[in-house]
Amino acid sequence: MAWIAKPSGTQRIERRVEPYLTSALKAKWSSELLPKYATKHGALMPILHEIQHEHRCIPYQAMLEIAAFLGLTPADVLDTVTFYDEFTTNKMGDCVIGVCQSVVCEACGHKKLLDHIRHRLELEPRETTDDGRFTLLTMECLGSCDTAPVALFNDVLHEQLTIEKVDQLIDSAKAAPATRHHT
Ligand code: FES
Repeated sequence: MAWIAKPSGTQRIERRVEPYLTSALKAKWSSELLPKYATKHGALMPILHEIQHEHRCIPYQAMLEIAAFLGLTPADVLDTVTFYDEFTTNKMGDCVIGVCQSVVCEACGHKKLLDHIRHRLELEPRETTDDGRFTLLTMECLGSCDTAPVALFNDVLHEQLTIEKVDQLIDSAKAAPATRHHT
């Protein structure tokens, strides 16, 4: 087995002039979020959720800014971002499809749905279409086993899914105007 080395030491971090953590955002977190936690580290998850939601990813520059704000090392922040599936370093599509792959959905035919989406959108899980419209994810139990198989389309749960229902959801997502810029 060969080790695959990541070029983290020489990786160039894309930077923009405007900070991701604006003064207003930091002031809001300082007054509303930090007091809820015994340590600043405790606020890392909600902050990452907010950045992910706003930017559809966690840019590396934002990780550096978050580390400085919370008094953590950039490695602490990167470890958390890469540990959880809900955080991504690549920009997510306008429509994020999360297909539940846990045991009940698996028994109720999740694979047929997943394969259909993979082929229709030419996407593998954790990939985004070139036009930035769709991202496909697989997820663990979404807490709706009695209505399996289920999937999230942009955080909205859809139950007892069939290929026809999935096609309708994809069609309406395609018909919606693109709302985000993808670079
Ligand atoms: S296994 Fe899919 S919702 Fe529980």
